[in-house]
Amino acid sequence: MTSLPVAELHLHLEGTLEPETIFSLAERNKITLPYADVDELRSRFEFADLQSFLDLYYANMSTLRTAADFADMTNAYLARAALAGVRHAEVFLDPQAHLVRGVALEEVMEGVSSALSTSLESHGVSTGLIVSMLRDHSAASAMSVLEDVLALGTPMLGIGLDSAEVGYPPSKFVDVYAKARAEGLHLVAHAGEEGPPEYIWEALDLLGVERIDHGIRCLEDEALVKRLVEDRVPLTVCPLSNVSLKSVDQLSDHPLRTMLRKGLNVSVNSDDPAYFGGYVDDNLNGVRDALDLNADDLATLARNSVTGSFANDARKAELLAEISVAVQTL
Ligand code: ADE
Ligand code: ZN
Repeated sequence: MTSLPVAELHLHLEGTLEPETIFSLAERNKITLPYADVDELRSRFEFADLQSFLDLYYANMSTLRTAADFADMTNAYLARAALAGVRHAEVFLDPQAHLVRGVALEEVMEGVSSALSTSLESHGVSTGLIVSMLRDHSAASAMSVLEDVLALGTPMLGIGLDSAEVGYPPSKFVDVYAKARAEGLHLVAHAGEEGPPEYIWEALDLLGVERIDHGIRCLEDEALVKRLVEDRVPLTVCPLSNVSLKSVDQLSDHPLRTMLRKGLNVSVNSDDPAYFGGYVDDNLNGVRDALDLNADDLATLARNSVTGSFANDARKAELLAEISVAVQTL
């Protein structure tokens, strides 16, 4: 399949660290990893659930120390994403996960933002940064990170909410989201990945989010589906991630097709592509084959990714025009 032009709306930069990169960063920073080689690390990419993945994801971040490390990680993702057809990327970053390791916020933000700022020229990918708050840390910690990032003045699109979901409802972060809204930032949150439909309601009604990340458990609540359809709330679905983290048994059982048929505003994204077996193209090819999606479905997914993005109207129009041309070759 030729890669459709798409926007990637659900991508954790730290989840793009391929095993080879983890080893080269470890060597650069003189860090001893608890794995003999890349094959041993890859052999650990078998997850029972979200938490078992997060344990490895946070552990491997120990290799990121300097602004150059963060810039290299970001550039490597953008180069690979461009090959996957990504033309606009809104990427998550978890600053708290680096601050608790003693890495200065300046190093993190400078490295990531320098790579993002040259991405359109270098890779043809327009970008935006979403600073994600770790929901299994305190609301006070999230507020302080938000204030510090704002004080630094690093360009950012908005804030998100990620990490372990069950037991950490969106309601915990009402004040953080109110502050971000007052600052004119966009608002998104992970909800309904492992957590119940109530968390999606809370993200919408208490946090005022504009997009829901994952959201697959919305199907358990008819009233919620109606609300999401009526308000055309974008849901950034990540099929290979859901299979890898055992929310879904296999790709052919994935609810994406049902979500499309119900008129939900779904897009396909890669979440943590280094860990879950592929980038956006792999996710799109996977669901096309496993769920027997037709060319109209693929075009809808591509268009939804663009209309659900926070790109400006001119960029959206440009990308929608590119999609219209590309769908004729499907
Ligand atoms: N952080 C990185 N990937 C995540 C995911 N799939 N869910 C929640 N937090 C995450
Ligand atoms: Zn995610």
